[in-house]
Amino acid sequence: MNRMTPVTIVILAAGLGTRMKSRRAKVLHRAGGKALVQHVVDTSLELTSPDRIFVVVGHQAEAVQDAVARPGIRFIEQKEQKGTGHAVAIGRPLLQDLDGYLMVLYGDCPLLETATLRRLIEAQEAGGEAGVLMTADMADPTGYGRVIRSADGHVAAIVEQKAATPEQLAIREANMGIYCYRADLFWKHVDAIKPNNPANEFYLTDLVEILNRAGHRVGAMQIPDAREALGINTRLELAEVDRLFRDRKLRELMLSGVTIEKPETVTVDSGVRIGMDTVVEPFAQILGKTAIGENCHIGTCAIIRDSQIEDEVEIGAFTMVNASRLERGVHAGPFARLRLDNHVEAGAHIGNFVELKKTHMGAGAKANHLAYLGDSEIGSKVNIGAGTITCNYDGVHKHQTRIGEGSFVGSNSTLVAPLEVGPGAYIGAGSVITDQVPSDALAIGRGRQVVKEDWAAKRRARAVRR
Ligand code: UD1
Ligand code: MG
Repeated sequence: MNRMTPVTIVILAAGLGTRMKSRRAKVLHRAGGKALVQHVVDTSLELTSPDRIFVVVGHQAEAVQDAVARPGIRFIEQKEQKGTGHAVAIGRPLLQDLDGYLMVLYGDCPLLETATLRRLIEAQEAGGEAGVLMTADMADPTGYGRVIRSADGHVAAIVEQKAATPEQLAIREANMGIYCYRADLFWKHVDAIKPNNPANEFYLTDLVEILNRAGHRVGAMQIPDAREALGINTRLELAEVDRLFRDRKLRELMLSGVTIEKPETVTVDSGVRIGMDTVVEPFAQILGKTAIGENCHIGTCAIIRDSQIEDEVEIGAFTMVNASRLERGVHAGPFARLRLDNHVEAGAHIGNFVELKKTHMGAGAKANHLAYLGDSEIGSKVNIGAGTITCNYDGVHKHQTRIGEGSFVGSNSTLVAPLEVGPGAYIGAGSVITDQVPSDALAIGRGRQVVKEDWAAKRRARAVRR
C-alpha cells in the first residue's frame, strides 16, 4: 500500500442474479465460507484504504451493506440496473475528485487474488496507458466480451457476445471484466457511453473504444488461468468456486506443513490458520475464524468453528467445537460437543458424549464420559464422573455451578445450580446436590441402600408352589 499512485476501487454488486433462482441477491450467496462480495471487499482492503472502497448496491441493498459493513467503506445505490457503465458512472459525485487510478471489480467474482490485482495496477503504472484490462485466453469464451487488439497490440475495443460478428466470436481472448483506469480520463470520457445495444444497457466495455477514439491507448494484462476471474451466475458455478476456494486453502496449508488426509473430503474456510505438523483426518470441517496450533490432531468428521486451539491438542472423531478456547494439550472427544464460549485449560480431558456450554475447565480437569456441564466453573484437576449433569436452568433463569480445585464428583451426580462446591470435596455417586458443599467435605444426597436377605429366593419359591 506504499505505492505512489492511490487506487480507488468500485465493486459492482447491484444485480439480482436471476440465474441463481434465488430470493437472495447473488453476491450474498456463500463460497469458501464467506459471502461472495465479502471476498471481494477483503481483497480490496489489501490494496487500498477503506475510504477508497465503494460498493455499488441495488437489489437487497440493505442486506448487502450489512454483509460488508466496515468503517470507511461507502456505498452507492443504483436503484435501476442499467448496465455496468451506468453502475460506475452514477458514483461520479463521490468518485470524480479521487485522483490516481480507478479500479472496477465485480461482486460476483470472488476468486481474484490480491497479487493478481496488484499486477494489474503495476501494469497500469508501467505502461502509462489510459487503462489496463484483465484478459485471458479461454478454450470456450462463450458469454464473455471478446478483446479486439489493434495492430500495435493494444486493445482497440471489447465486443460483447451478443454484438459480435462470427470472426469476432472466434477470438479466444476474453475480457475478465476487471479494469484499472486513470481516474481523470475515466471521468472525462465515461459519459460518452451510450446504451447503443439491443439490451439498452450502458456497457462499461464501450469505454475502451471511446478512449481509443480520443487518441488514448488501453492495455491488457493476461492471466494464465481464467478460472481466477470466474464470475458466478448459477449455483453450479457457485459450487465450482467453492471447490476452488477449498483447494486453494488446502494447498496453502499443506505447503506450509499441515498434513491433510484425503483432502478432497476436508473443508477449511479461508480465514482459518493451522500450525505445522498438525494432522487433519478425512471429512473434518474447520470453519470461520478458527486458529489451530502446531502438532494437533483433528479427528475425522470433527467440526470446529470460530475457535482457538493451542498446540498439541487432540480433537477426537465426530467432535464439535464452537466459539471455544482450548489450551495446550487438551483432549476433546471423540463424540464431544463444546457448544459455545468454553475455555478449557491446559491438559484437560473432555471425553465421549460430554457437552460443555459456557464452561471454564481448569488445567488437568477431566470429564471423560457422558456429562453436561453448562454455565460452570470447574477448578483444576477436578474429576467429573460419568453421567454428571449440571442443572443450570430452572425454567426461567440460568445459574452457575462452581466446583473447587481438586474435587471429585461421583458418577451420575445431579448438580442443581446455583451451586458451590469447595476445593477438595467429594460428592458420592448418584447424588442430587442442591446445597453448598464445603471444601474437603463429603456430600451424599441419595436414598440409602436397603438389602433384604434371601428375598429373591423366597419369591422364586412362592412362584413354583402356585
Ligand atoms: C461483463 C462484461 C463482459 C465480460 C464479463 C466478465 C460488460 C458490458 N460486459 O459481462 O465483457 O466478459 O463481464 O464476467 O460489462 N452490475 C451492476 N449494475 C448493473 C449491471 C451489472 O451492479 O447495472 C453488476 C452485476 O451485479 C455483476 C457485474 O456488475 O456483478 C457484471 O454484470 P453482468 O451483467 O454479469 O455482466 P456480464 O454480462 O457478465
Ligand atoms: Mg456476469
